[in-house]
Amino acid sequence: MNLQDLIELKAKALGEAEAATDGDALEAVRIEYLARKGLLPKVMQELKNVSPEEKPMFGKTVNELKNELTELIKQKQAGFAGSAGAAGAGFDLSQPGQWQGLGTRHPITQITDRITQIFQTLGFTVADGPDVESVWNNFDALNTPADHPSRDEQDTFYLNNGDLMRCHTSPVQVRYMMEHKPPVRIISPGRCYRRDTPDATHSANFHQVEGLYVDENVSLADLKGTLSYFARELMGPDVKIRFRPHFFPFTEPSVEVDFTCHVCQGKGCRVCKNSGWIEILGAGMVDPNVFQSVGYDSSAVTGFAFGMGIERITMILYGIHDIRNLYENDVRFLSQF
Ligand code: PHE
Repeated sequence: MNLQDLIELKAKALGEAEAATDGDALEAVRIEYLARKGLLPKVMQELKNVSPEEKPMFGKTVNELKNELTELIKQKQAGFAGSAGAAGAGFDLSQPGQWQGLGTRHPITQITDRITQIFQTLGFTVADGPDVESVWNNFDALNTPADHPSRDEQDTFYLNNGDLMRCHTSPVQVRYMMEHKPPVRIISPGRCYRRDTPDATHSANFHQVEGLYVDENVSLADLKGTLSYFARELMGPDVKIRFRPHFFPFTEPSVEVDFTCHVCQGKGCRVCKNSGWIEILGAGMVDPNVFQSVGYDSSAVTGFAFGMGIERITMILYGIHDIRNLYENDVRFLSQF
């Protein structure tokens, strides 16, 4: 045997091992070449007959054949054991696992939960209502007459059957009072719809949290106390609130409620347009006409209601400048919160 024969033998041996498709075939290759009575020990004995020039290269090639073949057989054997599912054997515990990225809750969900928690500590429970509403629940029962501008087709989405996509969460007040006797202490987060053209601060669908408290002798002072507590829990102990007179058909008196600006703490800055205040919600004392619609005795109970936009609060708390970011589902944006 000369060096050329040996090189061919090496290629043949490795080729056979490579071609083996199961453990038995592999073991046959091992016995053929590497076993004590196999080919390799015989080749070693040939060494003394090899010409002196070829001898160093011949010895080196024999060693390569032995080492490479042994290694290849070992690797393939592990592979077969692994794919056969043998417990432990051939299972590479050092192999890095596959990274499954962790999701986060959407910022709107996070703030909704936060707001809900705060009111729950005051004893409010969560009520729910559908996105598709009757005109009566959304407008009439809320003392909003047929000529009110928000009932215009330019402002509200109507369905062919005469129902509509609710334009605020206030119809949940109506639904809840129709089904429960006073006292009532609920909040209701949910989705609302308006015919707004999307821009940095408008979206045709958005979220509100409604609040309703009805009992004997509920006063505007209770509303103020409740919202002050809410503001401090949400924004921190130094925030102040202010009531401005306003109008809503379903509350009388009505107010808009501002919080001191979270950026300048009320000193005046670009965010609050130098006023020191940020408008956060609408509220008021439930109009007696609403109580009448739902069958409550307006001489026996009083109540307050409020409604706030969740997007606005989310944008303030997280410093988000464009409302559209909240709906694009871009993971690069969402994973920051
Ligand atoms: N529904 C009103 C709105 O969408 C907010 C509001 C709710 C005002 C309850 C007063 C009482 O603007």
